[in-house]
Amino acid sequence: MSGMVSTKTRYDAVAIALHWLTVLAILSLLAMGWIMTSVPPGSATQFMLFQLHKSVGITVLALTVLRLGWRLAHKAPALPDTMPPLEKLAAHLGHVGLYFLLFAMPLTGWALVSTSPFNIPTVLYGLVPFPHLVFPAALGSKAALNADFVNAHFIGVWLIVGLVAVHAAAALRHHFVLRDTVLTRMLPRFGPSRPGVAEPRFRHGESR
Ligand code: HEM
Ligand code: HEM
Repeated sequence: MSGMVSTKTRYDAVAIALHWLTVLAILSLLAMGWIMTSVPPGSATQFMLFQLHKSVGITVLALTVLRLGWRLAHKAPALPDTMPPLEKLAAHLGHVGLYFLLFAMPLTGWALVSTSPFNIPTVLYGLVPFPHLVFPAALGSKAALNADFVNAHFIGVWLIVGLVAVHAAAALRHHFVLRDTVLTRMLPRFGPSRPGVAEPRFRHGESR
């Protein structure tokens, strides 16, 4: 992602829409994940929540493919010049880590469902039958693979929770402490757009 910076002052509408749709999806997946693993096993509620979790999770995979494609084709606005190089590096590594987890979470989820002894079909949003992944026997027994994918999915949960917490805290620090445009340029701007007009906001290090 480094090297992909520009003189733009804001993220574009597509990047913003995909960012916040993803946030909504992840928060609902975490809630569903925890609820569905604590309701009575085998209940209709559990079945419904599993199907919804799988549907929204696969949606995140699709959104992330689109998003990464969009991101590689469209530069991101440069971080403020006044940011220390180590902080810029931390921001980039954080974003790379988030992208990694946005792929790893759905893929480990899909893989664990595909190797489950229950072998329950996935029907996205009750409408679209979704296939299971097939793993070559050389990779190990189905049961062993399933245990590994479940572990990876559960470890990923804590990694994404931790990274998102740091990421959100950093965004809030930029807005409320450093008072730069790093948060607002990722927020939707409603009302008429004013092309070419820079946002009248404080810059990093500027006195108030
Ligand atoms: C970004 C995407 C995802 C997130 C954030 C997420 C999050 C979670 C969470 C929080 C849990 C509960 C963990 C626990 O009980 O401690 C969970 C469990 C589970 N997830 Fe996901 N998930 C995602 C994608 C998927 C996908 C795409 C699938 C399947 C297609 C899936 C299938 C499952 C299943 C079957 C369980 C229950 C596993 C078990 O109890 O053995 N997840 N997920
Ligand atoms: C599930 C939660 C979240 C995920 C997975 C996520 C993921 C990401 C990713 C991957 C980027 C990099 C975008 C790019 O340049 O390609 C990004 C940027 C950003 N996110 Fe999030 N985010 C989440 C939640 C939040 C929250 C809660 C906030 C605000 C409090 C936030 C504020 C921002 C901001 C301001 C940027 C732009 C940073 C910059 O200008 O370099 N994000 N997010």
